[in-house]
Amino acid sequence: MFFKRIRETALIASLAAVAGGAAIAQTEVKIGYALAPDSHYGVAAQKWQDVVEAETNGKFTFRHFPSSALGGEREVIEGLQLGTIEATIVSTGTLSNFVPETGVTDIPFLFRSLDHARRVLDGPIGQEILAKFDDAGMVAIAWGEQGFRHITNNRNAIETPEDLAGMKLRTMENPVHLSAFNALGSAPTPMAWPEVIGALQQGTIDGQENPLSVIVSVKLNEVQKYLTLSGHVYSPAMLLISKPFWEGLSDEDKAAFTKGASEASVAMRGFVDNVETSGVETLKERGMEVNTLSVEQKAALRASVESAYEGYYETYGKDLIDRISATE
Ligand code: PAF
Repeated sequence: MFFKRIRETALIASLAAVAGGAAIAQTEVKIGYALAPDSHYGVAAQKWQDVVEAETNGKFTFRHFPSSALGGEREVIEGLQLGTIEATIVSTGTLSNFVPETGVTDIPFLFRSLDHARRVLDGPIGQEILAKFDDAGMVAIAWGEQGFRHITNNRNAIETPEDLAGMKLRTMENPVHLSAFNALGSAPTPMAWPEVIGALQQGTIDGQENPLSVIVSVKLNEVQKYLTLSGHVYSPAMLLISKPFWEGLSDEDKAAFTKGASEASVAMRGFVDNVETSGVETLKERGMEVNTLSVEQKAALRASVESAYEGYYETYGKDLIDRISATE
């Protein structure tokens, strides 16, 4: 009953004139995401909209709420569960608080490359994780992507784990990341994204970590001096729909949303491929001091998070983690 009422509210039907004088009920899809319309999130959201509109002859209109206009990713996910927000594209950052199985994808130094990550997520392991969302009031339609995360800060360039000692680093509200940064000897500070720029400006934190797609899009160079290309963890994203909304859709509409999400995922990955190639030069031109870790330096960081792996094996099972590593 509760969900039925929400569905009725969520499906804001307005009558729109269409060619030939007939009228169709038009349904607004509120889509919230953390970054600007010209980011990888915005580009994917636009693609999703274009495909759904084309496939359903304009039966659905998308209303975008970019740049955390609906709150942090946690609030948006809660909105999806309640049915007050219909769609989102989010990082896996806070998702393991809702669907714990997602956390396995946040393990540092697990994915070797974008191709490796895409093969795992598009294969049986990724599809099994998507299926878990059903019990959490959401429908996870496709994996998106942000790229590999790198560390930015205002204190010093990072070459060894010792350079991270005591560094106040904002992490996502994510237990897997938190234990990794504790193992690395930094002082991790979990924080919702909308608070991060202010905290960097005020100096309450020294740094943060995010992929080039995010660092370039939000111009983190304006508040951060050093960028270390640590690539310490792959950062997936997900395209999610509210379950109360989904349950009110016809099979044809569901097919349109699914097709749109899968094309949006391709667009997002294409965007990430570009920024992974051009992003470093852009950030250097904007004045950031950028250092790349050698293979040995990266291996030393990886060795420092080894102690956190015991906890990961316990939580997610060594077998699953080994299956991810073994995926060709
Ligand atoms: O760091 C985060 O919280 C996420 O990567 C961000 C920037 C909100 C994008 O999902």
